[in-house]
Amino acid sequence: MAAEFSLRRSTSALMNMQRSTKLSLPEQRQSLPIYELKNELVQAVMNNQVLVLIGETGCGKSTQVPQYLAEAGYTTKGRICCTQPRRVAAISVAKRVAEEFGCRLGEEVGYAIRFEDCTGPDTLIKYMTDGMLLREILIDADLSQYSVVMLDEAHERTVHTDVLFGLLKLLLRRRTDLRLIVTSATLDSEKFSEYFFDCNIFTIPGRTFPVEILYAKQPESDYLYASLITVMQIHLTEPEGDILLFLTGQEEIDYACQCLYERMKSLGNDVPDLIILPVYGVLPSELQSRIFEPTPPGKRKVVVATNIAEASLTVDGIVYVVDPGFAKQNFYNPQQGLDSLVITPISQASAKQRAGRAGRTGPGKCYCLYTQSAFHSEMSPVSIPEIQRINLGMTTLTMKAMGINDLLSFDFMDPPSPHALIFAMKQLYRLGALDEEGLLTKLGRKMAEFPLEPPLSKMLLASVDLGCSDEVLTIISMIQTGNIFYRPMEKQAQADQKRVKFFQPEGDHLTLLTVYEAWKGKNFSGPWCFENFVQSRSLRRAQDVKKQLLSIMDKHKLDVVSAGKNFTKIRKAIAAGFFFHAARKDPQGGYRTLVENQPVHLHPGSALFQRQPDWVIYHEQVMTTKVYIHDVTAISPEWLVELAPKLFKVPNPTKMSKRKREERIEPLYDRHHEPNSWRLSKRRA
Ligand code: CDP
Ligand code: MG
Repeated sequence: MAAEFSLRRSTSALMNMQRSTKLSLPEQRQSLPIYELKNELVQAVMNNQVLVLIGETGCGKSTQVPQYLAEAGYTTKGRICCTQPRRVAAISVAKRVAEEFGCRLGEEVGYAIRFEDCTGPDTLIKYMTDGMLLREILIDADLSQYSVVMLDEAHERTVHTDVLFGLLKLLLRRRTDLRLIVTSATLDSEKFSEYFFDCNIFTIPGRTFPVEILYAKQPESDYLYASLITVMQIHLTEPEGDILLFLTGQEEIDYACQCLYERMKSLGNDVPDLIILPVYGVLPSELQSRIFEPTPPGKRKVVVATNIAEASLTVDGIVYVVDPGFAKQNFYNPQQGLDSLVITPISQASAKQRAGRAGRTGPGKCYCLYTQSAFHSEMSPVSIPEIQRINLGMTTLTMKAMGINDLLSFDFMDPPSPHALIFAMKQLYRLGALDEEGLLTKLGRKMAEFPLEPPLSKMLLASVDLGCSDEVLTIISMIQTGNIFYRPMEKQAQADQKRVKFFQPEGDHLTLLTVYEAWKGKNFSGPWCFENFVQSRSLRRAQDVKKQLLSIMDKHKLDVVSAGKNFTKIRKAIAAGFFFHAARKDPQGGYRTLVENQPVHLHPGSALFQRQPDWVIYHEQVMTTKVYIHDVTAISPEWLVELAPKLFKVPNPTKMSKRKREERIEPLYDRHHEPNSWRLSKRRA
């Protein structure tokens, strides 16, 4: 069912579009709502150690506040840091501010994100992801290089921001000279202020225009289709103004852009141009900066974005918002050990924020592809903070490495459930990162040095001992970069043929390694990627990630050794990190996970799909129509007992054939093997 919206203007209205004349950079800065309050704001920061700062998206918080404070002299005492929940936002804001500041990116203004540091000795204003600041606080608990910390977009409530909240709250008592600014959407400001010692709230009056909200008359069964129809209807019938469409992820966005492109091509030259711009986290920055370029007269821009455009990025000129009402969210179910990225309805707060994007430069319209009654009955008022829905393995490890042993009584703004924390500790214990007392082991300390999920850092450290760290570094880097293979709609068969050539009988991890090695063999050639339907930017990113990980290995004097042709070593290293992701073929079809006994299925894109080996280990589960396992490698079951004796056992190992023994490998249940000291972790805190 297509969305039912009335068609109004004729296409000719678009042809005469004119953009307002462009202001110079200083003029643009002075036209921002925050500019009028500059002096008061600087004064407020001077008089208040903590300040909650509220203002409409686009009013100038992220780009201007650090500059104002730099002008006011705060950079003579240290750097100013401004965190962003998203990589892309950190880069794009830093770029913009460097431009306004009149320096090259990486000089006075720079940024740092995981696996990429674009700062230098002269950097005064440093934009970074909240995850990076968390890593810095791990190394220097006092954050001594900073005079101001601005936790931007705090309403996003990423797990990193939430942990930083607690840590900074403690730090502020030690460092009375440090200034903290927490910016948020108006919604949570009271809560933030209460948490931070009832601090003052500084509000920047908004300058927004009315947005007309149009709800769907009936529920949409296919929101993607409905959203594309709506975009085309707006383009063909509505007057001047760019469109912002919210979708849930990279694949969906690429697909939508391709559909729009083809639709436009089929319409020929009779309709005005539509500039189609995808925006998501892993998009290279060249492409991303294109979204900020003003739309040429007579054309229209459609930005197809993830949640990132909800508050983190401000695209000027948006008049129409198309909101299907969904976002991808990570949910972790510790009972099932299932980590799933699920497309879920957004909250009412998000819906309002999305609609607001249409009213920045003039009156706008928001096309909601859900009904008004769904808004009231199916959407929760606010989103659940990430800390209450994700696997806390990495967070727990980081906090333990900071010496915070008693996580259960840490001052979280919204604490995670004790169950989730205990579960995370159990996993770390099984990986060997925590001891029976719940304290960090030597291995755990090393694992915490890497900005990787604990199973990955364990896999990497195991590979050092097994003598295959070179290959495992490559595999981890490839896994971290997301989509490697490229599968354009019109050439799917051809792309699949090429992909199959890389397949390794041992599984997907070694297939990824083979792709990287082949690319390396061709001198990291771009045309080779194109011929082989491999995403060259993903490979280049993998190369960068590998470089960064190598430098950490170097720093800690960990050997980088090649296994040569010995793939068994590599598979064992993978199993050493991911043994709790073991699955066994189910005689009834599909697989069953060993620990939780849940039914799962090999993803059809897996190198093992045709082979269906008896025992596998997987990187992740993704729930769509079924629970699919991705990045799968065949293993030998006795490795499980060897590598994770805390988790697996063979009952009566003697007097049994190998086959029989393997059949009887089973997980040790927690009630038999749970260090009970964890419940008393306060003891050592
Ligand atoms: O943080 P807040 O949402 O308050 O606004 P901001 O990110 O500081 O953006 C202020 C203005 O800077 C926006 O209205 C954009 O026009 C502009 N800007 C830009 O042109 N390019 C960027 N990468 C970021 C901001
Ligand atoms: Mg901002």
